[in-house]
Amino acid sequence: MAMVAYLRAVLPVEHAVTERSTYPFPLTPYGPPVAGVPDPPDDDPVARGAYLAGPLAHCIDCHTPPLPGERRDWSRIGAGGVPFEVPGGVAVSRNITSSKEYGIKDWTDEQIIRVLTQGISADGRRLAPPMSGRASIWAQLTERDEHDLVAYLRSLPPQE
Ligand code: HEC
Repeated sequence: MAMVAYLRAVLPVEHAVTERSTYPFPLTPYGPPVAGVPDPPDDDPVARGAYLAGPLAHCIDCHTPPLPGERRDWSRIGAGGVPFEVPGGVAVSRNITSSKEYGIKDWTDEQIIRVLTQGISADGRRLAPPMSGRASIWAQLTERDEHDLVAYLRSLPPQE
């Protein structure tokens, strides 16, 4: 309802769109249209973090290894390895599970939150646009959102 309220508040723009999409709707690789996503339990940080990282912020879509045909390998949630074409090259989504060697096990909460809110990795590197481009949005996460996202990421089984 908040999104509908916002869309209704956007000022009218006179612009006729004459081109049409050529996708064979519905897009079967993604399954049937999503009719609804249940609210997460209010008292469970990990479940609430999963809700933020899944249907809302799409962390898991981008950070779960691809299979042929737009599908994802759900047995390896968060293992990374999805390539994105960006200006100047390819950015590959990283392992965001609790793997010590390949993931974010040794990162502090502050380092994880800085990736989201500033687009800067633990080693100080500025990340490529698919991640850093969303920092201005994720900078508006509440402290509780940040805490729950971190709790969820730390709950992901390590993927090597
Ligand atoms: C549109 C795809 C996309 C989305 C959505 C996305 N990521 Fe990323 N993420 C990437 C890519 C690509 C990189 C690697 C960027 C680079 O190497 O410069 C990355 C990097 C990261 C890193 C840095 C890891 C490292 O070793 O430096 C973390 C942590 C991370 N993402 C967590 C998240 C979380 C948490 C969310 C959801 C709130 C999220 N990502 C949403 C694509 C995405």
